[in-house]
Amino acid sequence: MRTHTDNGRGLHVAIIMDGNGRWAEARGWPREAGHRAGADAVRRTVEAAPKLGVRTLTLYAFSSDNWKRPAREVSALMRLFRIYLGRETARCVENGVRLSVIGRRDRLPALLVPMIEQGERATAGGANLHLRLAVDYSSREAILHAAGRLRGGRAATREEFARLLNEAAPAPDVDLLIRSGGEQRLSDFLLWECAYAELHFTPRMWPDFAAGDLEAALADYHHRQRRFGAVPAVKAG
Ligand code: IPE
Ligand code: IPE
Ligand code: MG
Repeated sequence: MRTHTDNGRGLHVAIIMDGNGRWAEARGWPREAGHRAGADAVRRTVEAAPKLGVRTLTLYAFSSDNWKRPAREVSALMRLFRIYLGRETARCVENGVRLSVIGRRDRLPALLVPMIEQGERATAGGANLHLRLAVDYSSREAILHAAGRLRGGRAATREEFARLLNEAAPAPDVDLLIRSGGEQRLSDFLLWECAYAELHFTPRMWPDFAAGDLEAALADYHHRQRRFGAVPAVKAG
């Protein structure tokens, strides 16, 4: 069912996939085991999203501040991205999922960058879902970078700036932001793009996140009244 809230273009859902480490620690396992289980939750979510009216899905996989973590955990995460890209690209093509990776690439392991480019090329025709994976991503840094590219101090319109900000993987503003893991903060994710996003926080740890959780978050979203600063429209009749 199409609602007034999606303008017929499908929804942009963004997810802060948090709680992998705690999920593993609660089982007496190393944090890396949580990240591995988290990758399965990504697959489930990507599969469920198009059926729920989601056309753009931006997943926070690794923040620029996550470099502060122990080297062992960081390299496990980088290895997982490699495995994910290697394994999931073909599945994305099959399911009409277009993959984009947002964030800095110059600090990623050299092996990863050509795999990202190959994955983006191979899936470029995907029309069912635009999957944007945020890796070495910082929203403040992305904003600074876009601002630095404004020519001659010229003031841009919001629309122009938003385009500049998301040039690598164009996407509309976020409609719904979900954060798993119980924390209620943005952690430098999509600060500009979430200006009017609806926020949904769930205590579910990311490795336990299932299609039903995405469905519940969207059901919650469809009950919200988005006003964008205006007064609610008067219902006809
Ligand atoms: C999110 O889970 C994944 C990344 C940040 C890479 P965490 O690793 O932050 O898990 P918690 O918050 O420590 O449980
Ligand atoms: C945000 O989670 C980053 C990702 C989920 C990739 P963090 O676990 O890094 O955020 P903080 O430190 O709790 O704010
Ligand atoms: Mg965390």
